Amino acid sequence: MLNILKKLFFKTKGVPQKATVPSPDRRLVAEFEVVGGVLQYRINRDGRPVVNASRIGIELKNDRPLAKNLRMVRTAKKSVNETWETVWGEEKAIINNYNEIAIFLAETDGAERLWTVRVRAFNEGVAWRYEFPVQPNWQAMEIVNEYTEFAFDRNSTAWWIPAYQPDRYEYNYTKSNMSDLEVPVHTPLTMRLPGGFYAAVHEAALYDYAAMTLRPQGGKLVSDLTPLSNGTRAALVLPAQTPWRMVEIGQAATDLMANRMMLNLNEPCKLPDTTWIQPGKFMGIWWALHLGELTWGTGERQGITTARVREHIDACAAYGIPVLLLEGWNTGWDGDWMNHGERFNFTEPVAGFDLDASVEYARAKNVKLMLHHETSADVANYEKQLDAAYAFLKAKNVHYLKTGYVGSRINHLEFHHSQIGVRHYQRTVEIAAANQVMLNIHEPIKGTGIERTWPNLMTREGARGQEYEGGALAPNHATIIPFTRGLAGSFDYTPGIFDVANFTKRVATTVARQLAYYVVIFSSLQMVSDRPHVYKDHPLFRFIQLVPTSWGKSIYLLGDIGEYLVVARQVRDGADWFIGGITNENPRRVNLFFDFLEKDAKYTAEIYRDDEQAHYRDNQLGYKIETREIKHGDHLAMYMAGGGGFAIYLKKG
Ligand code: NOJ
Ligand code: CA
Repeated sequence: MLNILKKLFFKTKGVPQKATVPSPDRRLVAEFEVVGGVLQYRINRDGRPVVNASRIGIELKNDRPLAKNLRMVRTAKKSVNETWETVWGEEKAIINNYNEIAIFLAETDGAERLWTVRVRAFNEGVAWRYEFPVQPNWQAMEIVNEYTEFAFDRNSTAWWIPAYQPDRYEYNYTKSNMSDLEVPVHTPLTMRLPGGFYAAVHEAALYDYAAMTLRPQGGKLVSDLTPLSNGTRAALVLPAQTPWRMVEIGQAATDLMANRMMLNLNEPCKLPDTTWIQPGKFMGIWWALHLGELTWGTGERQGITTARVREHIDACAAYGIPVLLLEGWNTGWDGDWMNHGERFNFTEPVAGFDLDASVEYARAKNVKLMLHHETSADVANYEKQLDAAYAFLKAKNVHYLKTGYVGSRINHLEFHHSQIGVRHYQRTVEIAAANQVMLNIHEPIKGTGIERTWPNLMTREGARGQEYEGGALAPNHATIIPFTRGLAGSFDYTPGIFDVANFTKRVATTVARQLAYYVVIFSSLQMVSDRPHVYKDHPLFRFIQLVPTSWGKSIYLLGDIGEYLVVARQVRDGADWFIGGITNENPRRVNLFFDFLEKDAKYTAEIYRDDEQAHYRDNQLGYKIETREIKHGDHLAMYMAGGGGFAIYLKKG
């Protein structure tokens, strides 16, 4: 066996110890080299370094590290240029074009272990992963640490959130010089390099492994796998492979938003039938809970009652919002629910709420229900009930589910983004798929593109969302998020709050900007997050009713991280366009050039924008709605108030 394996692996002696792979346009070159038995890589762009010489190695428990005495024994090249279709997304058709080199490595001494580094160079960046084939003298490993270095220029600027914090990914971003980074940070980590271009480090296809964070060390970033409480990071049974490590590269910050490497590095859709997967908008019994008008638990202000659910179903039907979220529908919320996840029962509706009657009422009104599983990160309690909970959803004909993992540790012990966490989230995705359930995961593991393979994973939170409004969100947050968290895919920011000047939770935006969120922040399920009564007869609401949540094409027109962003998206299988624009605390005017429209066609533009007096601090409700004709080649100056924005619907014909 060993001999056959070795024959497959080893070619001949005298194999060069350097392997390079260029991007299809040849502007990027990834170079992997064994120097003195140690593997390192670098990435160049137009002949200049993006990532300087960076080391790769793996440290193991009770075993020698896989880091020294290495030799390249063979390489294999291939090229791919294909187009595939998404079930939902920012684009219908995605081009997957790369050159690959598989580098087969062997130790020159000791156990002579074999492994492979598979590298893919795209025009938009470089990715690689580590693969460990089965071999007689190596069946399993416990990774104590993976050191994959990323040696970017120390004078780069980084936008980061700290890792290993109690509120998981829900932090404000800090912008700082790379050399001032002191703590481990999460990916995606977005940077501006001294050459004036942009890069992001992230990972793709995170399945049975620990999430990678990045630790500053000796002027470089080093992968820091999320630890388990037993001191190791990831346990693997061979054959195994790590997620892809990605360096995404773009000339402009907006190019990073157009980067599709993460999805391309994931496997095609595994679901035989996807006709039941329906992107769309949802209202909820939700913001009233966050405002304190209603409660999740029982009592005088109990949110979920049969009567209130009926009213909300009526509102969904009247407004044309297809789905309704019910938080607090089950038992377990009374008392200190954040610290008592063990009390949640996922098959027992709360007293005062007739679920069966509500399901029937919703069916009659053609409204779908989204139930909610808050676990308070008590995964042990949730996993015990998993089969019953999803069978229950199926029996009730409920196809939408929001899950939640409030808490600083899973089971009061493990990080959400540890291997144990990653495995759990994947279990829910698979059991959801088996029961035709679409998932919206709050307090999730970060997105790594697995929704290509499991498109029932519709969206996630995994960042500081609008629930932090009321003091803890500044207007520049939403101008950073699409360039950072946004690179990890579909994001439930919970847009659509019209009562922005609410006394208990003032939202730091103008009201017009809430419309822009539906376009600038992508989510295949978008919340219509305010209480239904605020939308009644509101002139701005028409835009929310019209805007879709899955697209044919997306163009990231203008933007600068932390400053402003303008995105245009075309309706899937249609001709109309939607445009959204937001700015930070500074008012600004942007020029829109309509060179992306079809030539010789006419469009009617419905423009929803801040008025000249609007401001997120003291004049949030000032807006204007205008209509005008637009055609290819036209341009339009759009005004955005401080903390404001605009939304445009372009109807062809
Ligand atoms: C935090 C979630 O982000 C929020 O949407 C939800 O309402 C609460 N947890 C309660 O589960
Ligand atoms: Ca949250």
